[in-house]
Amino acid sequence: MLWVKAFHIIFVVSWFAGLFYLPRIFVNHAMASEPAEIARLKLMERKLYRFVTPIAWLAVGFGLWLWLGYGIGGAWMVVKFCLVLLLLGYHFYCGKLVKQFAADKNTRSHIFYRWFNEIPVLVLIAVVILVTVKPF
Ligand code: HEM
Repeated sequence: MLWVKAFHIIFVVSWFAGLFYLPRIFVNHAMASEPAEIARLKLMERKLYRFVTPIAWLAVGFGLWLWLGYGIGGAWMVVKFCLVLLLLGYHFYCGKLVKQFAADKNTRSHIFYRWFNEIPVLVLIAVVILVTVKPF
């Protein structure tokens, strides 16, 4: 079980690296005006999103293996699962934004993306407290 948990945490950390970095690229993209810079940011967004999506599924897969395979869980796990579904929703919304930016159809300001960038931080804090403290 510990090997499964180790890989779960490895993929969770890698997933969050992408979830923290991609919206930061959106902040820069929303402020960019130079065609060369915009082309570079589009390439970075597409490559990062394509790289981090399988990692998201591996993080969830190893988590489900721990939960359903080893029967680890409780009320905290149900709340955690709901937060992870929210995180998956956030992840795929980022995918939609990557397409919007690629088509030069972004309508939001860099201020919006600075606040948008904070959502994964709040989910991370809540999930790590739930899974280590198991308050209920
Ligand atoms: C569907 C998705 C997920 C499921 C089903 C899941 C399930 C689990 C389970 C059952 C454990 C073992 C808990 C224990 O041994 O006490 C665990 C450990 C852990 N999970 Fe997840 N998890 C998921 C996603 C995540 C995400 C997105 C994060 C990060 C925010 C996360 C962070 C952790 C951490 C840090 C541990 C290690 C806790 C410890 O060793 O005490 N998990 N997960």
